[in-house]
Amino acid sequence: MARSLDDLLAEGVSGRRVLVRADLNVPLDKQTRAITDDGRIRASLPTLQALREAGARVVVAAHLGRPKGAPDPKYSLAPVAARLGELLGTEVPLAADVAGDDAVARAGALGDGDVLLLENVRFEAAETSKDDAERGALADRLAALADVYVDDAFGAVHRKHASVYDVALRLPHVAGRLVAAELEVLTRLTTDPERPYVVVLGGSKVSDKLAVIEALLPKVDRLLVGGGMCFTFLAAQGHGVGTSLLEADQVDTCRRLLAEAGERIVLPVDVVAASAFSADAETSVVEVDAIPDDRMGLDVGPRTVEAFGRELADARTVFWNGPMGVFELAPFQAGTRGVAEAVAAVDGLSVVGGGDSAAAVRQLGLDESAYGHISTGGGASLEYLEGRELPGLTVLADRGEG
Ligand code: 3PG
Repeated sequence: MARSLDDLLAEGVSGRRVLVRADLNVPLDKQTRAITDDGRIRASLPTLQALREAGARVVVAAHLGRPKGAPDPKYSLAPVAARLGELLGTEVPLAADVAGDDAVARAGALGDGDVLLLENVRFEAAETSKDDAERGALADRLAALADVYVDDAFGAVHRKHASVYDVALRLPHVAGRLVAAELEVLTRLTTDPERPYVVVLGGSKVSDKLAVIEALLPKVDRLLVGGGMCFTFLAAQGHGVGTSLLEADQVDTCRRLLAEAGERIVLPVDVVAASAFSADAETSVVEVDAIPDDRMGLDVGPRTVEAFGRELADARTVFWNGPMGVFELAPFQAGTRGVAEAVAAVDGLSVVGGGDSAAAVRQLGLDESAYGHISTGGGASLEYLEGRELPGLTVLADRGEG
């Protein structure tokens, strides 16, 4: 059993330097670089506040996007440092490097209750390296910045990265409050969920979701499929999908899954078909067996929203991951909104699984408190439900006394 943040606080952290790995990978506006959804920053506050209040000297490590292993201003954590400072009510300086001279000097100068953010850990190629020695060398430098390590980056626990995995081998470690809260809810989904148990999956790529579909099918009562990924399933049913997203090499797998699952996989009955991937495109609602050759489906249609709503109405446990359409563009957001509302109305445990679906709930102005839990981990929560080993959790599972 991993030690908890409370165990660490009970030991006393005043004056100790604590390295916190947080998942602050927030979406930014491409032009202005303004944060468009600060949900992950807000989710990291309980652990950071508790440490500050206990007098810890807090060094936060985080990544943003997928830079190519070298500093790149486009991926600087500067906007995140500013927002984190606003939310914590204290200045959060940003080190100019990850674990270089500036980080060392700033970490050494921290006072009790101060917070320092390191620059994007992925500016170091070693962070994501497959080579244990390379990652280990970076983990040595990160570990030298602190006396103890707290992993609170639930969204990154599926990554065997230096700041998520290797550093925990080098310092006494505990799981942060966010990691503990996420695990508590995901355990309820995997251990004897109340039935009917309905899973809703969307998002663009079916290939990203096949493993979780295989793992979930024996466990769920119904699996509703929307988003770009539904078109490969519709093609597997023999429908023409026009110019919609199609992963032709996955059609056979989808056909097999449909045969195995019978009526438990529920597909859209209509879609919003557009002349182009654009908010100004011409659109029409068409049945799934009548998608014109020159049109692409960019959302599920109103009859599908109704049908999915009926499937969700009596559910006692729901997990939803992935938008139903291109919700960022107004003409294609009704499907995601309708499903989000149906999930919110569930009388039981409703879990929104991270990433785009969590962002959609907030961007569409829906009431976050209507959901049992909004996860911060997209890929991480899916891999957890697949039953895969998550390196960032495995490494915390010992007593972590260093
Ligand atoms: C996420 O956005 O799911 C996490 O922050 C992990 O990011 P990654 O997929 O780039 O590793």
